Amino acid sequence: MKIQLRQFDVLKSTNVTAVSFAREGAAEGTVIVAKRQENGRGRMRRVWTSPEGGLWFSVILRPQIDPQYAAQVTLLMGVAVCQALRRLYATDDIMIKWPNDLLLRKKKVCGILSELQLSEDGEIDYAVVGVGVNVALKIEDFPPELRDAAASLNVSLNKNYTCEDVLDNILQEFNGLYREWLVCGADVILPLWKKLNCTLNQKVLVKDNDEVIFSGTVTDIDAEGAIVVRSEGGECQSFDFGEISIR
Ligand code: BTN
Repeated sequence: MKIQLRQFDVLKSTNVTAVSFAREGAAEGTVIVAKRQENGRGRMRRVWTSPEGGLWFSVILRPQIDPQYAAQVTLLMGVAVCQALRRLYATDDIMIKWPNDLLLRKKKVCGILSELQLSEDGEIDYAVVGVGVNVALKIEDFPPELRDAAASLNVSLNKNYTCEDVLDNILQEFNGLYREWLVCGADVILPLWKKLNCTLNQKVLVKDNDEVIFSGTVTDIDAEGAIVVRSEGGECQSFDFGEISIR
């Protein structure tokens, strides 16, 4: 994949810009980066706070795979970001929480939001994978309600990397994994995801829009990116949506 960077000072959301570029035919590998976002989008229709000091970018992909497996691109990005950050910051303390949050010592340092568009014949037209990394935000940059749950990499790990350093490392890691994945599929990602995650074997509450819909222990993740949760009564259910809180 040939990376083509499109850099902006300010955008409403890099995902929104990436979707409009993708609709206009932008090539796979186009990466939209903004120094800040005015209307950053999070999962579950939440707002994603995106002031200067964070890395906010979206990648346009056009993988020719069965759309059933499209969620794997998000897992793949989670693995790539986790490996890149672990290497750059020289720490093993960064873990993936299903579906695609990255936590540093239980505090969120990165979120990923993917958007998929199918063509009329049911093939993948494009996927936009948006990544937000709290590189150098100060505690006062986070809204008060997030200050306990979120962290900034440079502050927590006492480093001084720029957003460009972090972006370069992530894109290099992602590019290598993506190439391998196009050839070999899930076998490339799932073992890495399992190694880097902090979700398997945990007792969790599964939530949809803040409402608890199931509770149990996470026993597996499947090729569609869904987690399998076993309740105390032994009932197993898969979830490919929603979010979890680890008990
Ligand atoms: C989450 O809720 O955890 C996902 C957050 C994703 C945020 C990133 S920042 C870059 C890209 N543009 C957006 O508007 N959102 C994603």
